[in-house]
Amino acid sequence: MAQTRVLECCNCFLVLFLVFMPMVLGSPSVGVNWGTMSTHHLPPDKVVQMLRENGFKKLKLFEADEKILAALIGTDIEVMLAIPNYMLQTMSQDTEAAASWVHANVTSYSYTGGVNIKYVAVGNEPFLQTYNDSYIHSTLPALKNIQEALNNAELGSKIKATVPFNADIYYSPESNPVPSAGDFRPEIRDVTTEIIQYLHSNGAPFTVNIYPFLSLYGNDYFPMDFAFFDGSNKPLRDGNLVYTNVFDANFDTLVRSLEKAGYPTMDIIVGEVGWPTDGDKNANIKNAKRFNQGLLGHALSGSGTPARKGTIEIYLFSLIDENGKSIAPGNFERHWGIFEFDGKPKYKLDLSGMMENKGLAPVEGVEYMERKWCVLNSDADNYEELPDSIDYACSLSDCTALSYGSSCNHLSARGNASYAFNMYFQINDQHPWNCDFSGLAIITDKDPSEGDCEFPVMIVSHSALLLQTGVLDTLARVVGGFMVFALVLC
Ligand SMILES: *[C@@H]1O[C@H](CO)[C@@H](O)[C@H](O)[C@H]1NC(C)=O
Ligand SMILES: *[C@@H]1O[C@H](CO)[C@@H](O)[C@H](O)[C@H]1NC(C)=O
Ligand SMILES: *[C@@H]1O[C@H](CO)[C@@H](O)[C@H](O)[C@H]1NC(C)=O
Repeated sequence: MAQTRVLECCNCFLVLFLVFMPMVLGSPSVGVNWGTMSTHHLPPDKVVQMLRENGFKKLKLFEADEKILAALIGTDIEVMLAIPNYMLQTMSQDTEAAASWVHANVTSYSYTGGVNIKYVAVGNEPFLQTYNDSYIHSTLPALKNIQEALNNAELGSKIKATVPFNADIYYSPESNPVPSAGDFRPEIRDVTTEIIQYLHSNGAPFTVNIYPFLSLYGNDYFPMDFAFFDGSNKPLRDGNLVYTNVFDANFDTLVRSLEKAGYPTMDIIVGEVGWPTDGDKNANIKNAKRFNQGLLGHALSGSGTPARKGTIEIYLFSLIDENGKSIAPGNFERHWGIFEFDGKPKYKLDLSGMMENKGLAPVEGVEYMERKWCVLNSDADNYEELPDSIDYACSLSDCTALSYGSSCNHLSARGNASYAFNMYFQINDQHPWNCDFSGLAIITDKDPSEGDCEFPVMIVSHSALLLQTGVLDTLARVVGGFMVFALVLC
């Protein structure tokens, strides 16, 4: 009897051990992209605090922003740090420039207790078709120079350089639109293969950005369900593999393309994936939540795609809305955040992928400007200049929420004018002279928001002040560290 009991206990211990081991050793976790193309920035230390509270362990940055890096000192958040496209030419021609970039932006943070930089992203979607081959010749040499600079700094075994590509570098022919027919675009196939070869020889991953939202955007015949992870109205068959969502189909088109290039086991990181919440008829909170929650459940489950089993490493796009982004791709471009511009979560999202109805922690202690708005003056006597004034206000602020299918598209003509005036007023820090428009506008303390259409009050941008607190914070945390001196000297 006693014997059996021991055995039973051993079994339960074993079971418990097996169940909890992956969590103890670090359960699979999601990363997130933090872009900063906004007119008003939240304090980086408060955003970093929010990342930690929500359990984000991986972060991707588009530039080595020193205030953000300072806020990350002493955290264990794993960072992918990017070199913007405009630097590729220099980095490709000048090994000294590559070495000083690595020294200033990587080496000086990579000490014990510093910033946990794990990848350097060389360029951002450099082979995007709309860039007309501008970076075709500089990307590979820049990648090599950066990796060699990392190696020379004795960081090469820990920090790998990679290149985040857009999924438009591969395709399946229209005559056979299935993943197994996938390959890299002929014009860039050779250079892409050379890059893959180099990444592979370094043990670096292949990074790709995949956007199911864009499959739906501007294609009214695309089956809606196929963009998400819980629908399968029209599965796609590829031999004996069955695809129920476009993300997997896209990912496997890359897997097949890599196979054809001779690298069937190449590691893949999805550098950007997400869903916007405004600026298009399919961009709303319901769809974004459905997509992101389904994505997390799928990617972290370990079931993988039909062609490749295992956890899929993903970085959500994106953390916070960016009102300063170009809207050339579409009005949705400023609304990719899972958080609003002021750090409020837009919807509930269970980051563990367990699909529980869990909320996200907001950025705490955000400072707002006064509760006042700029609206159309109903006592104005001459509306002749109204259309021009609205155009002017919108061209220098953000009126994407007014566009067709968006959260404020239902406003009246007067509501439209008020929305435009308010956005201009808020982005310009509520100066009274920014709410005039030849007498057409007036300041009010009554919130003009209507239903889902929010008239925001801007946050206080702390850039200058922040640098100070950032440095003090840093001082407190890493006294004696090399970075302290570097920061103070700057
Ligand atoms: C470090 O990165 C920042 C941001 O991209 C850039 O402005 C700066 O020039 C870089 N430093 C060096 C020495 O290249
Ligand atoms: C690419 O080429 C097209 C057509 O020649 C041009 O309209 C566009 O401005 C170019 N884009 C860039 C980024 O150079
Ligand atoms: C408000 O502005 C939007 C975007 O410019 C436009 O689509 C809409 O028709 C306007 N509404 C009215 C009532 O003028």
